[in-house]
Amino acid sequence: MIYFDHAASSFPKPKAVADAMYEAVTQYAANPGRGGHVLAERARLTVEEARAKLAALFGAPQPKHVWFYQNATMALNQALFGFQFEEGDHVVTTAFEHNSVLRPLERLKREKGINVTYVKPNEEDEITAQALMEACTAKTKMLALSHASNVTGAFIQIDQLASFAKENEITVLLDASQTAGTLPIHMEKDGIDLLAFAGHKSLLGPQGTGVLISREDYGLLPLVVGGTGSYSELPVQPDVWPDRYEAGTLNTPGIAGLAAGVDEIVKKGIATIYEHEQELLTLFIEETEQIAGLRHYGPADLAKRVAVASFYLEGIGSHELAIILDEHYQIAVRAGLHCAPQTHRVLETSNSGLVRVSFGPYNTKEEVKTLVRALKEIQQAFV
Ligand SMILES: Cc1ncc(COP(=O)(O)O)c(C=O)c1O
Repeated sequence: MIYFDHAASSFPKPKAVADAMYEAVTQYAANPGRGGHVLAERARLTVEEARAKLAALFGAPQPKHVWFYQNATMALNQALFGFQFEEGDHVVTTAFEHNSVLRPLERLKREKGINVTYVKPNEEDEITAQALMEACTAKTKMLALSHASNVTGAFIQIDQLASFAKENEITVLLDASQTAGTLPIHMEKDGIDLLAFAGHKSLLGPQGTGVLISREDYGLLPLVVGGTGSYSELPVQPDVWPDRYEAGTLNTPGIAGLAAGVDEIVKKGIATIYEHEQELLTLFIEETEQIAGLRHYGPADLAKRVAVASFYLEGIGSHELAIILDEHYQIAVRAGLHCAPQTHRVLETSNSGLVRVSFGPYNTKEEVKTLVRALKEIQQAFV
């Protein structure tokens, strides 16, 4: 099977990820932070080491600012529903959001009376920092932004917003689900206040992992309250971090796997991974541009994208095409609306959907060429 669905979840995971998880399950599957015995302590240390690695990778002030969740959606929900919005507050976001940002914002509109502006892309399918700044008003409290579109791969130059957001006291929430592990991200330098991402995509960790990092204290209310293993005598959620934001038993095997994924990324180098994936993206776009009836979406300037490409082949529905690729060619891609309905409205592809291919660090040029050959054959068969 050739796997081109890394934007949904990366596969395969490095062996070190599986080994770390196996070790956790078989050797110290005790409850981290709950009890002082040797096994609970080992589990706690594993979680704390993972926290420290993620803090270092993303330029967070301290490990305790890193909070673990089941996925990016939970991390984003914690950031958005935890933020103490008041009626009339304004949020600027993009038309390229995943439902995990879009649906919480729509709910906040209904339940809290906030206003939301969805900034649309320009003619090059790109959302500029300038357009985002122009959409802000005196009432804007938050810029809630997907770093890169999960449909077109187009990314925002987030650092260009840093001084503007600081001067105007606007909290920047970045959904880095498509960029954590493929683009360099530094919370301090890039002016990111809240950083949310999945552990199971480009960080090569297992499913069941997601992270929110809070650079400073934004007064977030915890989304979930309950046992933390600390201050058990208190009837309320403790103030100390990370306990305040991590009620319930953590996913130690998953977090151990995520830490091993981060090690792999650091060992390979984010710049090297980006370069490799860019080569695959460039090859794919160049080789398929000439296929009659095939239309690509997203910025033509590939330097403005991560390795995600969505396209439409005239005469074949996106789901049908994905099924043919899967069943006949053993190539895994993703068809449809990709949990990003507004993106498809803006691209005018809501009816047909698109076929998305997304490349990972272990994909090869040969695999891309196989996909290109398959698409040429399919196109000829349908003409
Ligand atoms: C941009 C973006 N944000 C959020 C998510 C949600 O991630 P998860 O499934 O880990 O909650 C995804 C997943 O596809 C995504 O692409």
